Amino acid sequence: MSAYYIGLMSGTSVDGIDAALVDFGVSPPALLAARTIAWPDRLRQQISDTIENHQQLSLETLGRLDSAIGTELAAAASAVLEQTSLDCGKITAIGSHGQTLFHAPDGSTGFSMQAGDPNRIAEKTGITTVADFRRRDIAAGGQGAPLVPAFHQTLFQQSDCNRAILNIGGMANLTLLPAGGDAVTGFDTGPGNILLDSWYRVHHGSGFDRGGQWSAGGQLQQSLLDELLAHPYFPQNPPKSTGRETFCLHWLQELLDRSGHRKIDARDVQRTLVEFTAVSVTLALQHYAADTEQVLVCGGGIHNRFLMQRLTGLLSPRPVESTEKYGLHPDWVEAVAFAWLAKQTLEGMAGNLPAVTGARHPVVLGAIYPG
Ligand SMILES: Nc1ncnc2c1ncn2[C@@H]1O[C@H](COP(=O)(O)OP(=O)(O)O)[C@@H](O)[C@H]1O
Ligand SMILES: [Mg+2]
Repeated sequence: MSAYYIGLMSGTSVDGIDAALVDFGVSPPALLAARTIAWPDRLRQQISDTIENHQQLSLETLGRLDSAIGTELAAAASAVLEQTSLDCGKITAIGSHGQTLFHAPDGSTGFSMQAGDPNRIAEKTGITTVADFRRRDIAAGGQGAPLVPAFHQTLFQQSDCNRAILNIGGMANLTLLPAGGDAVTGFDTGPGNILLDSWYRVHHGSGFDRGGQWSAGGQLQQSLLDELLAHPYFPQNPPKSTGRETFCLHWLQELLDRSGHRKIDARDVQRTLVEFTAVSVTLALQHYAADTEQVLVCGGGIHNRFLMQRLTGLLSPRPVESTEKYGLHPDWVEAVAFAWLAKQTLEGMAGNLPAVTGARHPVVLGAIYPG
């Protein structure tokens, strides 16, 4: 029997809302429709400003932002539904990640804040909406992240091959799937595209380094790379997760100013940032799962040809391939994962993997807003 769900995801890159409509009634799950809805320019700017300059945020601004993001998420769900002939009554639920504004899960008052009022999504679409996935895991002692590994496990774990799934969004995260169903682990490796995007925008005003062409013409600056890799996040053992609070343009700019790197050509910095992402992923894989035989990549970073070339070189002789070859297009893995997490919640099943997040036990994630 069909089991239709919609997943909504917007990551730290704030490039747009990924919306996927999927049928979990068949195996493997069937992706029926998917699209990315760009944020309206003003709202995107407001979200990015909020993430990077949260000290100035008033409660009123936060409340209005939450409502505005909720309205856009509802429109994204409607837009993906319109791509099919399905009626909203046929959709079991929407899983909405929301837009992370602040992620600081450590310590006794740790939290992760996703905006995008789910009441608005349920009201506008008439579809039951599951949201606020991260905080229950944090309440149970976890990082609240990454949450996609349980879904990666159901879709990609093999009996005869040690696989790793690498998602390159704003941040990059690895899911380690040992052969034979052994315990899955996973963690954020550090920045994915976020510094590449930020630095590119400083020098080009908008957009991103399409295909990695700009960076490919730069020269690698080894001493800058060494300093980037000296960040205390890297030697920390998992469970661990990170965000734009830690790896942001301010941090990069300070490092460039402080250590006499001010004169480095902007393009050489971009080239070095590509290496930073590729090397930090590679070191993490070598350290925690050196026996990985195959790396499947998803997330927007897969479209950065130069980054992929560097990753393929560094991870050699392991094949580095797109998740598309194994059943799901790399642009939609995360959105489908949040559709799946909504299904887990409605069925009373846990969505977290304690070995990944560090939670004390498996928990049913999220809150349900009836349609
Ligand atoms: N053609 C491309 N060339 C280079 N980078 C790309 C391309 N397409 C997407 N990206 C990168 O992917 C990012 C979006 O990735 P995504 O997986 O949506 O991240 P997030 O989960 O943080 O939203 C963009 O901001 C950009 O850096
Ligand atoms: Mg995105």
